[in-house]
Amino acid sequence: RRAARIGICGLGTVGSGTVNVMLRNSAEIAARCGRPVDIVQIGARRDNPACDTSGLNVTREIFDVANNPDVDILVELIGGTTVARELVLAAIDSGKHVVTANKALIAEHGNELFAAAAEKGVTIAYEAAVAGGIPIIKSLREGLAGNRIQWLAGIINGTGNYILTEMRDKGRSFEEALAQAQALGYAEADPTFDVEGIDAAHKLVIMASLAFAIPLAFDKVYTEGISRISIEDIRYADELGYCIKHIGLARRTEAGVELRVHPTLIPQRRLIANVDGVMNAVLVNGDAVGPTLYYGAGAGAEATASAVIADIVDVARTLEADPCQRVPAAGVAEGNQDGPRV
Ligand code: HSE
Repeated sequence: RRAARIGICGLGTVGSGTVNVMLRNSAEIAARCGRPVDIVQIGARRDNPACDTSGLNVTREIFDVANNPDVDILVELIGGTTVARELVLAAIDSGKHVVTANKALIAEHGNELFAAAAEKGVTIAYEAAVAGGIPIIKSLREGLAGNRIQWLAGIINGTGNYILTEMRDKGRSFEEALAQAQALGYAEADPTFDVEGIDAAHKLVIMASLAFAIPLAFDKVYTEGISRISIEDIRYADELGYCIKHIGLARRTEAGVELRVHPTLIPQRRLIANVDGVMNAVLVNGDAVGPTLYYGAGAGAEATASAVIADIVDVARTLEADPCQRVPAAGVAEGNQDGPRV
């Protein structure tokens, strides 16, 4: 089978991690796709010393990737919502599938982007947008597909959990722990998103949209972060037998789906109280399966790359063998009013 042709936009923490893991594990990835998977172009405004791109085709113009007729799947890793939205819409318009790690983009513009993708018959995959390396999107969409989900809850911001853990275990100040999380590549470009609960709210609405089949509703989340938690709060909680964790919760109520993120006192004996550092955990309760728990690294270059590549593999498996069957990037071919199918 012909190779799946990948264009990657963005060479930050997740972009460089994705390139490194794709090159390192190319044999396994190709075997799982049933075809080679080639990085045919990278769009990045600047190089990243964490990633060796020599031998790869790198452009400084990220929209070149969206318009490149040799790209089947555009991987959006630039972050933000303005240029990223335009880039994804341009890729969809030219008949490309999209893989993204961008939770803000999906949470705030997903309804529009999914509609555009459906019209063009292409896929938007976003496993890496929620809980880093944990395959929670696939679990909600596929593994638990036979359930009526009652509620889901979890620790879904690695930076926040890292900060709370460092404050508790090492007595570090909030600022010191945040600086360390940034140095480790866990934090968002604007760390306010992590510490004020916005990043967790983005992830919660994405999970809730799948779990409860509701539209993405970012503006409906009660959002509170960890920026006002002090070391004293953590110590008092500890003396009383509790841990302070930043929790996202979505549950069915008679009035609709309740969505909230905020610091929560959790009894120390609970599993979730022992999820420390950058690790995330999501509990999902389905009527048939009962409670299920998903645990893993919630941030970091390669953990997130793991989820990005899972999506690339998923989409690459669906590509048809003959590139001539693709509709020209300029639009819908005459006689094919269903839109392009790659
Ligand atoms: N800043 C995010 C976090 C990255 O710390 O969880 C992964 O989404």
